[in-house]
Amino acid sequence: MQIKTAIFTKSSAKLSQCPPMDLPEYAFIGRSNVGKSSLINALTNHGKLAKTSGKPGKTQLINHFLINEEWYLVDLPGYGFAKISKSIRENWEKLIMSYLFERMSLMNTFILIDSRHKPQKLDIDLIEKYGMNSLPFTIVFTKTDKLTKNQLAKNIAFYKKYLLQQWEELPPIIISSAIDKLGLDEILQSINKTRTQFDAKLIPKMDN
Ligand code: GTP
Ligand code: MG
Repeated sequence: MQIKTAIFTKSSAKLSQCPPMDLPEYAFIGRSNVGKSSLINALTNHGKLAKTSGKPGKTQLINHFLINEEWYLVDLPGYGFAKISKSIRENWEKLIMSYLFERMSLMNTFILIDSRHKPQKLDIDLIEKYGMNSLPFTIVFTKTDKLTKNQLAKNIAFYKKYLLQQWEELPPIIISSAIDKLGLDEILQSINKTRTQFDAKLIPKMDN
């Protein structure tokens, strides 16, 4: 699949503000600064579609991007930055949980994990939430250009082993870099596999 058009549709502070659930959508989630917006820009070959920043916490809204007029890419607000008030954190939790459980057009979530770090509690908690609720997800390791081949292989092996302590099976895993444009085809292929399974008629009409 080739991305021909990528258009920013809207930013939503609540689920009820999101676009109608009439197209399949694919969300990117992960810690603040993990590279969600950068990966969306690399995928769409569009330098400034999603706002990126060295400052964590840039994306605080649910951002929908319409791709090829057929499906949505969704940039979700990041979690885990240090200086954050309790109310913002609770708000994030509420927003994300309502999105994950009520957004019936959500076909898959790409959970982005910084390939440089050991498993972190917030990421593992999120993976657990998906697993326990049988929500489909794919793990995408980011910023792999910052590691040597050896370090990367070691870190991925460690992560897999860690997950296998808890789970019987590993989820699909993609190795990526927005800088080296690595893993982009794999992400698009994974999207393409389920895109046509979406049937808008099966989704009850909501007010939004
Ligand atoms: P929030 O919106 O705050 O949640 O962050 P985000 O996950 O959208 O991260 P963003 O894409 O804004 O990237 C954060 C920083 O990491 C920026 O300075 C990017 O340039 C850098 N970055 C993102 N992806 C890569 C990558 O693949 N390689 C390298 N070397 N840097 C990256
Ligand atoms: Mg962002």
